Amino acid sequence: MTKKNDIYDLDATKEEVEIDKNIRPETLDEYVGQQEIKENMRVFIKAAKLRGEVLDHVLLYGPPGLGKTTLAHIIANELGVNLKSASGPSIEKSGDLAAILSTLEPNDVLFIDEIHRMPRFIEEILYPAMEDFELDIVIGQEGNSRNIKIDLPPFTLVGATTRAGDISAPLRDRFGIVSKLNYYTDEELQHIIERTSRVLDMSIDEDAAIELAKRSRKTPRIANRLFKRVRDFALVNGDTNITKRLTDLALERLHVDKFGLDQIDIEYLKSLINKFNGGPVGVETIATSIGEEVSTIEDVVEPFLLQEGFIKRTQRGRIACEKSYEHLKIAHYKDTLF
Ligand SMILES: Nc1ncnc2c1ncn2[C@@H]1O[C@H](COP(=O)(O)OP(=O)(O)OP(=O)(O)O)[C@@H](O)[C@H]1O
Ligand SMILES: [Mg+2]
Repeated sequence: MTKKNDIYDLDATKEEVEIDKNIRPETLDEYVGQQEIKENMRVFIKAAKLRGEVLDHVLLYGPPGLGKTTLAHIIANELGVNLKSASGPSIEKSGDLAAILSTLEPNDVLFIDEIHRMPRFIEEILYPAMEDFELDIVIGQEGNSRNIKIDLPPFTLVGATTRAGDISAPLRDRFGIVSKLNYYTDEELQHIIERTSRVLDMSIDEDAAIELAKRSRKTPRIANRLFKRVRDFALVNGDTNITKRLTDLALERLHVDKFGLDQIDIEYLKSLINKFNGGPVGVETIATSIGEEVSTIEDVVEPFLLQEGFIKRTQRGRIACEKSYEHLKIAHYKDTLF
């Protein structure tokens, strides 16, 4: 069984939720990177305010940890309204949705995380709520039930998902603004790390911040996590500043390599190359062979490996690219066959 490195866990830990409150940017100006989304959002927010109308519904999608939840909070903050939040799988009954919707004040933001996991019949109740700000629900027992229509205040639905492909077309079409969050550059991550260092009051040398950024899988959540871990090493060491030497040491102890790949990534690549001859092989087969959940592999491990050119996704399955062979120092004979 794989020894899991919790740096890549999907869910935030309790400690993290607390610290996150402090390091999470609150305005578009503080939100690093995602330039195009930010510029567009500034225009849409300003226009909605000038018109005195509610902001159109917004769908945010992209891999975990890139800042979807953060951006939803920022949108509410910039609009100067409340944010009510729910997650797709937690809305099980029409009453759950009605309960949340009934707390909304005019122009509020309703944030639904993991919106692709909302039951289909809830989606259907949401359609008129999104289009006409009307809630049509059935109340009472079978045989004695009746439909009621409730007027809602205008609100903005901000939906977030790591799986845009799993969202039904009718739901997707009801979002006026659809934005894909991209992976961050090393410079942007360095910026985020330096900001976190100031907020958490632990200084970091520039070369150390650059190194951390390089190994953060282009993802702010991982950059912040790695920063916090390295900070632990500094604290135990009695250091008041994070140096490059300490960073290298800590990252080695955490088994994060120079590309930011961790043990799960390495096992994935080794399995693909050694057990399945470099592919093509299906994701379920790889997941089973390394004892991981398919969803972890698909949502967390593969997007980064694809983005960085370690693997390719084909109709027949996953294939290891040259870069993986080089990185793992495994000879690759394909090119010398003829
Ligand atoms: N653009 C950014 N600038 C600064 N910090 C950021 C930015 N985006 C995200 N972060 C930080 O990264 C962490 C993760 O962001 P967030 O929780 O918003 O990601 P997410 O996309 O909602 O992830 P998930 O898909 O797992 O819900 C937050 O603690 C936040 O402080
Ligand atoms: Mg989130």
